[in-house]
Amino acid sequence: MIKLGVNVDHVATLRQARLTYEPDPVTATGLAELGGADIITVHLREDRRHIQDRDLDLLRQTVFTKLNLEMATSQEIIDIAIKVKPEQVTLVPEKRQEVTTEGGLSVTSQKKLLTDIIKRFKDNDIYVSLFIDPDKDQIIASGAVGAQSIELHTGNYANAKSEKETAETLKILQEGVKIAQDAGLRVNAGHGLTYKNTGPIVEVLDVEELHIGHSIVSRAIFVGLKRAVKEMKDLIYKHYLIKQNF
Ligand code: PXP
Repeated sequence: MIKLGVNVDHVATLRQARLTYEPDPVTATGLAELGGADIITVHLREDRRHIQDRDLDLLRQTVFTKLNLEMATSQEIIDIAIKVKPEQVTLVPEKRQEVTTEGGLSVTSQKKLLTDIIKRFKDNDIYVSLFIDPDKDQIIASGAVGAQSIELHTGNYANAKSEKETAETLKILQEGVKIAQDAGLRVNAGHGLTYKNTGPIVEVLDVEELHIGHSIVSRAIFVGLKRAVKEMKDLIYKHYLIKQNF
């Protein structure tokens, strides 16, 4: 079964809007796990716009599934990650002006740097995934720099404006998965996935983890986080059964 990673950054975004103590992303992760989350994801950004160092420290003590830390390749954050020891780090590009992570990481343009960083993580028993666009060169380079996994950016698929564009972007993702698997990489996917567009991803892509944040936290405002996570898990399971021809 495909695993669901729930990103709780936006719970912290709401808290930081008032610089107060609520809602607490640490409480949120407990509810997400009760709802069936297989992985908890947070992004400790350099500008600390949502998740704070205190959140990460507490999450390390409380998350009993798997903690996936999204992070830029900044020295400060790398040192924190090595100290906190999440099970997995997902390296992402980071720009201060962006609303959310926009494009995938450029692996081809920073091979030496990434090789060194990935080695350091692996030496510390931290599993490394790279968030990249479904581009052949980036995928091959990800294997070459030593990453164990990639997370394919599903943003173009999520933003597709027509059925034709949806089919085209899905095909590109499908080809990306194949290239990655041939290169010995494990494949995850995420960004912009919702209760509407996740089904085809499950049916068509042979991926291990889906990472979803905004849509689940948005639904949680109305139905509660535990139920929002369970509804996404049920949706993934339903489409997984369709894929298996049940
Ligand atoms: N994967 C990565 C690498 C991301 O940066 C994000 C956004 O933080 C997500 C998945 C989740 O995206 P969304 O919030 O659109 O579901």
